[in-house]
Amino acid sequence: MKIIPTISKIENAFQPAKEIDTPDRFAGRRQAVQDCYLALVAHGANIAIVGNRGIGKSSLARQVIRMATGEDELLKKLNIPTSERLDYMAMYFACGDAVKTSEDLLERLLTSSACLKDWIYDIPKAKVEIEGYKPKFDVGVIALGGEKRTEVESQKAVGQHSIDIVFTNVARALAEQRLAKHGILIVVDEFDRIANPSGFASFLKSLATNVPTVKFCLVGVAQDIKELMKEHESTDRLFAGSITRLPAMTDDELTEIIRAAEKSIHNFITFDPNATKRLVTLAQGHPYMVHLVGKFALRNAFQNQITIITAENIDLTVKSIAERGADPVLEGRYQKAVASSPQRESVLRALASKIARDGEVWTTEAYKVALDDNVDNSSQYVGQLVTAEYGAEIEKIRERYYRFKDSLFAAYVNARPRQYPK
Ligand SMILES: Nc1ncnc2c1ncn2[C@@H]1O[C@H](COP(=O)(O)OP(=O)(O)O)[C@@H](O)[C@H]1O
Ligand SMILES: [Mg+2]
Repeated sequence: MKIIPTISKIENAFQPAKEIDTPDRFAGRRQAVQDCYLALVAHGANIAIVGNRGIGKSSLARQVIRMATGEDELLKKLNIPTSERLDYMAMYFACGDAVKTSEDLLERLLTSSACLKDWIYDIPKAKVEIEGYKPKFDVGVIALGGEKRTEVESQKAVGQHSIDIVFTNVARALAEQRLAKHGILIVVDEFDRIANPSGFASFLKSLATNVPTVKFCLVGVAQDIKELMKEHESTDRLFAGSITRLPAMTDDELTEIIRAAEKSIHNFITFDPNATKRLVTLAQGHPYMVHLVGKFALRNAFQNQITIITAENIDLTVKSIAERGADPVLEGRYQKAVASSPQRESVLRALASKIARDGEVWTTEAYKVALDDNVDNSSQYVGQLVTAEYGAEIEKIRERYYRFKDSLFAAYVNARPRQYPK
C-alpha cells in the first residue's frame, strides 16, 4: 500500500527557493565535487566557484563546507577517493547589498556571529585587535545621547590598524589556537554583488603569506576568476588549479533530481518517462528550472489526485507558472522584453530557440524562425532588445552574432508559452 505523503513533503520534494544542503538530495556534479575536495586538501590554495545564475553554485558551496568539516557522505556516494578526514573550522557568508567594498566584506566577516565574531571574544589576542578597531565598526550606528556620532568623531585614531591588518591579526590569533587541524575555511557567496572588490586579491595574497592556514572559497556569478574579482591582473596563482566553473547539468544529472524528489515522497506520485524528458529538456541544464516546474507539477498532481505526471501535465504547469508569475523575477523580465509587441515576442523567442552550444545566436538562423511568424523586420526588434528599455537581455558579440546574457532567462523564454498567440 502506498503511504500518502504530507503536504509538507510534497511542497519540499523540489526546492527552487533554496540551495541543496543535504548530500542525498545533491545530484551529479562528480567532477566539481572532486575538484573542490582536492582544493581543500591542497595547502595554500584558495577556492573559487563560478558560473551562471541558478546553475548550482551555492549548493556546491554547501557541500564544500560539509566536506571541509569531515562529512564524507557525498564523497562516498560519488565514489571519490579520499585520504584523511578533513577538519576545518568552516563558515559561510553571503554578501548582500550592504557589502560594497572589500573593506565592508572583511568587517562583516569579523562582526557577524555566523562567521568570526563569536570566536574572537574567547581569544584575548583577537579581542584586543577588534577592540582597537571598534570605533570604526560603530560608524553611524551607535547613538550618543540619542544623536548619531559623526564619522569624524568615531574615526580610528592614528596608529590603529586598517581593516585588512586587523583581519590578518585576528586570523593569525585564531589559527594559533589550532581549533581545527586543517585551518579555517571562509566561504563567501554572492561575491559578484560586491560593487568594488578592488584590493581583495592583494589582501588574499598577503594573507596567504602571513596566515597560510586560512582558505577562502569565493562563489559568484561570473565566467572566470578575473571577472568575479573584477581584477585585471592575473589572480590565477591565488587560486592555482582550484577554480570550478560549473557547467550546465547533463540530462542524467537533471533526471537524478526528479528521481530524488520522487523518492522523498516514496514514489507516491511519479513523472512518467515522457514527463521526465520534457522537464529535463526545458531546463536546458539549469537545475533551478527542474525544481521550479517540478514543484508546481507535483503540487498540481497532488491536489487533483493524479499519481502519474505526464508530458502534458508538464506543459500545463509551465503555462500556469507563467500566468501566475510563480517566478516573478523571470516573468517580469519576460514582460519587460516583450511589453506590448507580438513581433518583439516572436523575435525574442526566435533568438532563444537558436542558441548554439557556445551560447551564441546567429541572427540569420533566428530571423528565419521569426519569418515563420510573419515578422520580416527582425533586426529592428533586436535593436530594441539590446537596450535597457527592454531589459537588455541580449547583447551583440560581433556582426550578426548575439547572446543572451543570462542562460537561465533564455531557458525560461523557451519553456514559457507565448503571451500573444500567433
Ligand atoms: N547538485 C544539485 N542537485 C540538485 N539540485 C540542485 C543541485 N544544484 C543546484 N540545485 C538546485 O538548483 C537551484 C539553484 O541552485 P543554487 O545552488 O541556488 O544555484 P546558484 O547559487 O548557482 O544560483 C536550487 O533550487 C537548488 O536546489
Ligand atoms: Mg547562489
